[in-house]
Amino acid sequence: MNNSEIDAAVATLKRGGLVAFPTETVYGLGADASNPDALKKLYAAKGRPAGHPVIVHLAEVAQLPQWVREVTPAAQKLMQKFWPGPLTLILRRAPGVSDAVTGGQDTVGLRIPSHPVAQSLLKKFNGGIAAPSANRFGRVSATTAQHVKQEFGDSVDLVLDGGQSEVGIESTIVDVTGERPALLRPGHIFAREIEETVGMPLAAPHGGSPRAPGTLAAHYAPNAPLMVMEGDLLLELATSLARQGKRAAVLARGGLQPMLSGLTWISAPHDAAAYAHDLYANLRVLDTAGCDAILVEKLPQQPEWAAVNDRLGRAAAGSRPTST
Ligand code: TXA
Ligand code: MG
Repeated sequence: MNNSEIDAAVATLKRGGLVAFPTETVYGLGADASNPDALKKLYAAKGRPAGHPVIVHLAEVAQLPQWVREVTPAAQKLMQKFWPGPLTLILRRAPGVSDAVTGGQDTVGLRIPSHPVAQSLLKKFNGGIAAPSANRFGRVSATTAQHVKQEFGDSVDLVLDGGQSEVGIESTIVDVTGERPALLRPGHIFAREIEETVGMPLAAPHGGSPRAPGTLAAHYAPNAPLMVMEGDLLLELATSLARQGKRAAVLARGGLQPMLSGLTWISAPHDAAAYAHDLYANLRVLDTAGCDAILVEKLPQQPEWAAVNDRLGRAAAGSRPTST
């Protein structure tokens, strides 16, 4: 990435435009977090209902005072350990932080990403960049610049290409406003690592207060119905679909690909981090295969699979025609 591309992106943000940029988790659709008109444009491009808060991305902790009024000891420990990186912290907002950012709540979500392109952009912009994942509301997140362009076409002013996102799924979100931190969204950084860092068990997320739409049951949804099931059942179902002349698309970790007509088959990595890295790109391939059903092999239940299981559960819920 050369400097002139970053300069162009900064200029676009300064005049209220939208810039998609790479982060280590997924691509973000960025707008100047202190410009209400830019935020309106951002919500419109995403098709996201108003009242859903967005994460503000910063270059460094020195910028915190403009955004938060209190840093709890747990928050400080987590910042030291995991920033820059795939962790979003929910903190008490500073006066003046726009309702368009916080969804009208008294809290704000902050993240310092580690991706070098995101870092250059944030440093040069020298302010907060509001950036939800660069996908239309409720759809699969984008992990390449190509995916962003497919999602938005011309409604984004500029897309910075930083290659494929390393983590592949959205950041871990921890609410650190209370006495004990609460996990709002599992991610690459596990619950256990958070607990070890803060030295106490996590609290259950307190219902009612901060809303995290990434936690809606129906989210990250491909277009075709998606089902998660054990490998043997999956083979049986794929076979019977093929017999009925239907097209199945399969995401499996092991097993041999059966020779069936109309079958799209992806062999996913065995390791949890590699599986997450490829997950959304794989779902896009399966979704664009024009199939009647997407069948995903059930994954282990160990902690390292928590984030992937979470996303697949939501994709399954969201893809059902009856869901809201
Ligand atoms: O990895 C990520 O987090 C990516 C990259 C671009 O940083 N961003 C991302 O943004 O996933 P988004 O908008 O798709 O998901 C952010 C989640 C939403 O579920 C939102 O509700 C929650 O963060 N969130 C943001 N601010 C919040 C707040 N003040 N309280 C509770 N939840 C909040
Ligand atoms: Mg999202």
